[in-house]
Amino acid sequence: MTTVTGLGTPDDMHPLQQRFVDAAGFQCGFCTAGMIVTASTFTESDLDDLPRRLKGNLCRCTGYRSVDDALRGVGNVGKTCGKAFGASHPAGPRVVTGTEPYTFDTVVDGVLHIATLGSPHPHARIVSIDTVAAEQLPGVHAVLCWRDAPQFAYSTARHENREEDPDDTYLFDRTLRYVGQRVAAVVAETEAQAQEACRLLRVEYEVLPFVLDPDEAAAPGAPLLHGDKGPEARIADASRNLIGEVHGGCGDVEAGIAAAAAVVRGRWQTQRVQHTHLETHGAVGWLDDDGRLVIRSSTQVPFLVRDELCRIFGLERHRVRVFTARVGGGFGGKQEMLVEDVVAAAVLRTGRPARWEFTRADQLTVAPCRHPMRVDVTVAADADGILTALAIDVLNDGGAYGNHSASVMFHGCGESVEVYRCPNKRVDGRSVYTNNRPSGAFRGYGLGQVVFAVESAMDELALELDLDPYELRRRNVVVPGDELVAAHPEGADLGFGSYGLDQCLDLVRSAMSRADGPPAPEGPRWRVGEGMALAMIASNPPGGHIADTSIELLPDGTFVARVGTAEFGNGTTTVHTQIAASVLGTEPDRIRVEQSDTDVTTHDTGAYGSSGTVVAAKALHAAAHALRDDMAKWAAELAGEIRADQVVRDTFGFCGRRSGFGKDVSDRVLEFVGRYDEVVVLHVVLVSIQGGDIA
Ligand code: FES
Repeated sequence: MTTVTGLGTPDDMHPLQQRFVDAAGFQCGFCTAGMIVTASTFTESDLDDLPRRLKGNLCRCTGYRSVDDALRGVGNVGKTCGKAFGASHPAGPRVVTGTEPYTFDTVVDGVLHIATLGSPHPHARIVSIDTVAAEQLPGVHAVLCWRDAPQFAYSTARHENREEDPDDTYLFDRTLRYVGQRVAAVVAETEAQAQEACRLLRVEYEVLPFVLDPDEAAAPGAPLLHGDKGPEARIADASRNLIGEVHGGCGDVEAGIAAAAAVVRGRWQTQRVQHTHLETHGAVGWLDDDGRLVIRSSTQVPFLVRDELCRIFGLERHRVRVFTARVGGGFGGKQEMLVEDVVAAAVLRTGRPARWEFTRADQLTVAPCRHPMRVDVTVAADADGILTALAIDVLNDGGAYGNHSASVMFHGCGESVEVYRCPNKRVDGRSVYTNNRPSGAFRGYGLGQVVFAVESAMDELALELDLDPYELRRRNVVVPGDELVAAHPEGADLGFGSYGLDQCLDLVRSAMSRADGPPAPEGPRWRVGEGMALAMIASNPPGGHIADTSIELLPDGTFVARVGTAEFGNGTTTVHTQIAASVLGTEPDRIRVEQSDTDVTTHDTGAYGSSGTVVAAKALHAAAHALRDDMAKWAAELAGEIRADQVVRDTFGFCGRRSGFGKDVSDRVLEFVGRYDEVVVLHVVLVSIQGGDIA
């Protein structure tokens, strides 16, 4: 059998592997080895039937278009202007040859395996656990349960400001609030031994009343999930299962409805959705030679995981390192700490390396999913199609724990309503506990659910008014000078930076009227229609987003950029390389990016909400500029007799590049260094960018 490593190496790629690099035919790359192996068996005629021929190869990231391009030999890299911006992904050759290591693609000698016992009940209290038989099973090193858990409450959700989420979770809880919640964990020599020991655990449960429907959970008399918790947990109202709520608006919605020519009222319900990143949640940990706890995890937030592990286990920051290799997809799901806490507990208890990797079944049954929302919308307009009232009432099923639930609800209730100008708005939102599996962060962070409802209502209003849906939106979108109003009449914490909403709508309209998109599928099973929806997203979390970056010129004339943000298919490594190369006037292959390691830089809030580009990359941009300026100054001082501006021009070739001068910046500086018998050129600039400052 030939695997992808048998087709080629990073230095000697098979033509098909080269095509995937040239087409940027991958994002996280977790599926890419399989894609390439399958495609390596194709004949020319298979290209006419790719959906069927590739049906056994699932990709969660790319949408298949770039895969299709790769298989047809279409190149996508280097089409934009400038050599720096034509850079392909630095890891490309390794991804397509199967040599890029993901979380578990590393050998950890002596690693132990973790398995967990899940709750069979949606709501129960553990009366007793008998662990003796499990502990006596050969190969078992430890059994962990609520008796071993630090009495420190936290949230699996990770934000810059940890207080955005309620502290309602324990490493192991004596009260179980959803089916599958971990009751105990076994640490053993093999996975089979750990699973076998889990079956030997004897647990006596006191079964408690449960509630699965969010409307019932919010009603008086419903079983309470966290009624035992006080204000320190930061739950909005534990006596009503209320994780968080928002109520507000502007004007008079009833008056707006009374004055309208058309009114639409409706209810839209969205379902639970799993991220299904191909690399499941998982982490492996060990103690290094200095006895420091090291966790290698598939996470979007290594720094925030490190900080919370320190709190849970009472460790100082410098005693814990968390890092991530390339992550096989996240989509918001890895803005949680789901496994690292148990892995850390296992390592600290046994002193041995330990690993825990979610199965696909775990992903689909216990990992947090997108919040199901029930959204009631009322929207009204006058005869000219000008909105007179817009109201939403959102009920958000947070599941058994409050991770992300309040902020997802706040966010979903924000831009979905702010994007329209309307004098009378009303927003009511509640996020409630139920005994369902926890919900969590997911692409769009609540907006997908609410936008779906608001935009569906807008379409129905257009039908009522006999107006083109495009025209209805064009007449009602916010314009510069408007307040961005949702729940608060004084406006949200958003303002206008640039504006292109009207042009965007016009472009969509024009593209739709040209009807030059991909051909519609044919056949009796297909019904073809077209529609439009409008969405705006502000990706910056209210607590801010912070990235510290540095960039250093090495004696060999290359640069190393250090960033905290993780690469999980979002392309930030490429973007960071392009930006640094562009600012420094050098080739992309002279930039090496070190990333997502708490030992590499001081802090990064995490890779979500496009922050790898808009925050970390901006920090790197500033660092590269600072390095460039300092190098120019330094070179000018060395040059002495030469006018500083001349040195800058000669050294960096900024003007020269335009006139064809263009010698590489690092070569020029090293030339100066050589002239003055200096042997070290080194400078580090550390820049913090707080996302909230970016307009
Ligand atoms: Fe295919 Fe990520 S690139 S799953």
